[in-house]
Amino acid sequence: MDRTAWGEVFRRGKELYTRNARPGERVYGEELVREGDEEYRHWDPWRSKLAALLLKAPPEPWFTTIRSLLYLGGAHGTTVSHLSDALPEASLYVVEKSPVSFAPLLALCRRRANLYPLLADAQLPERYRADVGEVDLLYQDVAQRTQAQIFAENAEACLAAGGRGILMLKVRSVTQRRPAPSIVAEARRTLEKRGWKVRATVDLSPFARDHVAMIVAG
Ligand SMILES: C[S@@+](CC[C@H](N)C(=O)[O-])C[C@H]1O[C@@H](n2cnc3c(N)ncnc32)[C@H](O)[C@@H]1O
Repeated sequence: MDRTAWGEVFRRGKELYTRNARPGERVYGEELVREGDEEYRHWDPWRSKLAALLLKAPPEPWFTTIRSLLYLGGAHGTTVSHLSDALPEASLYVVEKSPVSFAPLLALCRRRANLYPLLADAQLPERYRADVGEVDLLYQDVAQRTQAQIFAENAEACLAAGGRGILMLKVRSVTQRRPAPSIVAEARRTLEKRGWKVRATVDLSPFARDHVAMIVAG
């Protein structure tokens, strides 16, 4: 395994792995690989947009300095589990509004000390901002029509000065009728009008079709 610059994330050839914080445990049926005393979990870019982003456009060194993170749209915890491995010293607050998805997410969070689950609607950050406080990274993957607004409201509520954001924009959740570049440009305008700068946009194809990662800063 070759260590990367992104916390406990490793590469072997073209594949990504995280050092398993819970050796012997799989989260979603992923491959486990043993090397020496360590165990690594394969991080599948076809199932996790963050893995796709790391493979397509690795972030700058700020990724490793993250001490706290707000994750919107945790679902069953596929990507959350790899972030939990990658940033073992960080506190990860995970918002999910579907009770069906929240049940397996809660079970995952009970096994990992750096995860704090919140059954909540990301459209209402005022309901959880006191629990979360200020975070270094806001990560959003909610597939809603108003994704950019939701992101801006959460950034205003919880992002620390100098913090970063990653908005996984699902283009087709905004509208089916307009071409993707116009939807991405509109999301950029929404963020910029509210004072957020879009540092980069990364098309996640072929791993996630119709998805663009937007790297945002204050
Ligand atoms: C595409 S899935 C997320 C996948 C996950 N990020 C991963 O990579 O493992 C989107 C999730 O966002 C949740 N979601 C949608 N709207 C939401 C909202 N307003 N607040 C919180 N969660 C929301 C959905 O219930 C769903 O579980």
